[in-house]
Amino acid sequence: MSERVLDIRNLKVVFPNELGIIRAVEGIDLEIEKGKCVALVGESGCGKSVTSLASMKLLGNSGAIVRADKMELCGTDIRELSDKDMQDFRGKRISMIFQDALSALNPVMTIGKQLDEIFIRHFNVSKKEAKEHSIEALKLVGVPDPAVRYKAYPHELSGGMRQRVLIAMAFACNPDLIIADEPTTALDVTIQAQVLDLLSDLQKSHHKALLLITHDFSVVVHMADEICVMYSGKIVEKAPAKELFREPLHPYTKGLIGSVAKMEDKKGKFIQIPDSLPNPMNKPSGCYFHPRCACATEKCKTYMPPLRTLENGRQVRCWIQEEAHEP
Ligand SMILES: Nc1ncnc2c1ncn2[C@@H]1O[C@H](COP(=O)(O)OP(=O)(O)O)[C@@H](O)[C@H]1O
Ligand SMILES: [Mg+2]
Repeated sequence: MSERVLDIRNLKVVFPNELGIIRAVEGIDLEIEKGKCVALVGESGCGKSVTSLASMKLLGNSGAIVRADKMELCGTDIRELSDKDMQDFRGKRISMIFQDALSALNPVMTIGKQLDEIFIRHFNVSKKEAKEHSIEALKLVGVPDPAVRYKAYPHELSGGMRQRVLIAMAFACNPDLIIADEPTTALDVTIQAQVLDLLSDLQKSHHKALLLITHDFSVVVHMADEICVMYSGKIVEKAPAKELFREPLHPYTKGLIGSVAKMEDKKGKFIQIPDSLPNPMNKPSGCYFHPRCACATEKCKTYMPPLRTLENGRQVRCWIQEEAHEP
């Protein structure tokens, strides 16, 4: 039987301020099974990070109001957990990999000691055993001369190596769920590919659930089993990764993939999306994407389309697709 590691239903997050309300996340469903990688993709500001932070109850002091019909991690309803219990839960079950390895690592402690601490805390091993585990972990993530690098401070490593160390730390505590938020955005393209390959290999070989968050479609091509495309706080398309790439349905997805794959429309022009995300305090009427959509109709300007499951099982939030697939 498949095991659901993450199960979020109808997640809503708003940030009230003196000028109004920022509606950052508007009713998102997110599920990840053990061993699977789900990618959350969309332009910067569409609500990806807020979705992941809310899913871990990490929006504590931000002024956010979070609501959901269901928030289950590894079968536990986290809405019920106290802050202290949630902190323990995160420490034991969830690992996070962020873009900025330098600020995620302790600058005055060697990377070896930082890894040792994880093994000591999680597995109650001696210092000597922890060191052996740490060197093994550095080897696993492809850090050359691991016994030497064990003694290095974060600033003595390159950006790519630091990100490998973060990946080693994320896997060291044997979590059920790994959340990687723009894990390679700060790296050069070639290093980015190497680090993503590493993350993908480890996720698959260790059979972990991975939530991969990125604004860059090229990042998810080879990694994700399923892709959720997010626009202005809502999921606009959800599909198995291969199908989504073969045939994107939502005009926004087409634009995002088009900008990576240089997709051409019928007239041979590259598909591009004009302008930018709407102001989260003042979103347009109807479909939030309509002001940027070349296919928008009067209906699109007036009514928000639902996220509908089409006959072929694909999910898309678009009136045009819905009408095209009407039986
Ligand atoms: N702490 C906060 N207070 C107020 N607004 C926030 C806060 N964090 C995020 N937001 C807003 O929520 C929206 C979604 O942000 P975010 O999830 O960080 O986007 P993404 O990760 O997709 O780039 C943005 O409009 C952002 O300005
Ligand atoms: Mg973000």
